[in-house]
Amino acid sequence: MLKLVVLISGSGSNLRALLEAASDDTYPAEIVAVGADNAASGLAHAVEFGVPTFIVAPQEYANREAWGQALAAAISEHQPDLVVCAGFMRILPADFVGLFSPQLINMHPALLPLYPGAHAVRDALADGATVTGASVHIVDEGVDTGPVIEQVQVVINADDTEESLHERIKAVERELIVRTVKNIATKNINLQELAR
Ligand code: GAR
Repeated sequence: MLKLVVLISGSGSNLRALLEAASDDTYPAEIVAVGADNAASGLAHAVEFGVPTFIVAPQEYANREAWGQALAAAISEHQPDLVVCAGFMRILPADFVGLFSPQLINMHPALLPLYPGAHAVRDALADGATVTGASVHIVDEGVDTGPVIEQVQVVINADDTEESLHERIKAVERELIVRTVKNIATKNINLQELAR
């Protein structure tokens, strides 16, 4: 059974998809804790499923490195096999990445390397793109630059708003994250090999 710590910053719809999948005994992964960088509303999903939560807020630390160390310590207490960033909106310090990568993956709402960063959906619309999507990738020391594990396309409609497009991307993300974690757990995806 693959043990996951999931990190979130917001509503946690991807987290909820994982919690629901993992509540089926045949799913090969379990969520051992959920962490956040703020009192994210999505932590309520973890509470509902009886999963422990923790918050490590950057403003309580002298600098990013100290915050990264505290976050790493909170995660390591749960001894996960994999850390999943599911809407975690902070850039992770290099030391943190070095501790967990390649067993550290991120969901991103665009077809990387297109539209990295915190406003991927808005950026795709502003660019006049007709297709965007979702990518799940290994976190490396860059911002959304690590090796892509899988991507799924989403067509952009002429009347899409940032909100309507993001909702369709999130629907795709929920299936993608559940499938990816399952494939890692069953060794159909080898993160060490992908990271080479
Ligand atoms: C998701 O669309 C995820 O891809 C995105 O935040 C959203 C979180 O939604 N992540 C990023 O933009 C990371 N750069 P959720 O909290 O409902 O799962």
